[in-house]
Amino acid sequence: MRDYICTVLENRPLSGELYVLKLHSPELARQVKAGQFVMLKVSQSLEPLGRRAFAVADTGEEVLLLFYQVVGKGTLLLSKLREGDPLYTLGPLGKGLFPKEGQKHLLLGGGIGLAGLTLLGKELRAEGKKVVFVYGGRSKEYLGMEYWLKEEGFEYLLYTEDGSRGRGGLLTEALRDFDTSWVVHACGPKGMLRALKSLKTGHRMFFSLESRMACGWGVCLGCVVQTTHGYKRVCYEGPVLPAEEVLF
Ligand SMILES: Cc1cc2nc3c(=O)[nH]c(=O)nc-3n(C[C@H](O)[C@H](O)[C@H](O)COP(=O)(O)OP(=O)(O)OC[C@H]3O[C@@H](n4cnc5c(N)ncnc54)[C@H](O)[C@@H]3O)c2cc1C
Ligand code: FES
Repeated sequence: MRDYICTVLENRPLSGELYVLKLHSPELARQVKAGQFVMLKVSQSLEPLGRRAFAVADTGEEVLLLFYQVVGKGTLLLSKLREGDPLYTLGPLGKGLFPKEGQKHLLLGGGIGLAGLTLLGKELRAEGKKVVFVYGGRSKEYLGMEYWLKEEGFEYLLYTEDGSRGRGGLLTEALRDFDTSWVVHACGPKGMLRALKSLKTGHRMFFSLESRMACGWGVCLGCVVQTTHGYKRVCYEGPVLPAEEVLF
């Protein structure tokens, strides 16, 4: 892990508050593994002070692909970056990665959480594993990353809460259609992960967690979550943890 000065290749809105960011960084692109994330220095001034964490959604030969949702000051500043701008990028971060045992993998992404699973899909497929994505959002406007799934040729199911696209309802309902030979990997809002865990379906299940982060590499303890083995740092022991360990 170290700090890289990446160059913005592309930074554009997809739908609603969702953006796609492409960064030129040959060294980082070579190193990043599915589940890992980077901390971006979104401002050159003191406001906002801290870096912001983002999953690496995909890598190309010399490129990192990130998806982000504008939710506050930091992500708003990020959305203003233009082609050619430099961006301090700390990474790759996170030691707790997705296990890849098993032949069949179901990847459940709630909203922007899909960005935490896309690279995993590619890595699993490259190993010859069967991969199905389930992507859910409030309505069709919240499914802006579908184009990536389509372009990459993945099998996927869509869920919207208002039924405006795909199946109507919550993506957690998809679990009913996949027996316990499928390994489940999920990333999304805490409520979604809590609901998945409470279903007690018997699947092997892994969560990629989010938490407010200050340092991103295990020093500040700002990101800890309670687990059956005591407190764990999402940035260091995580971000991926077995579902049965996480205490919400
Ligand atoms: C490991 C990891 C990976 C992430 N990957 C992505 C990603 O790929 N794409 C993406 O859009 N976002 C991702 N996030 C969340 C992202 O870091 C926050 O949305 C971002 O830091 C918000 O910054 P801000 O200054 O715009 O918002 P702020 O002004 O800091 O906050 C705005 C609102 O967002 C909430 N918020 C801020 N940070 C988080 C967080 N970490 N978790 C939950 N809620 C938060 C705040 O409570 C507040 O309500 C990830 C977070 C982590 C920890
Ligand atoms: S963010 Fe500092 S320990 Fe995790």
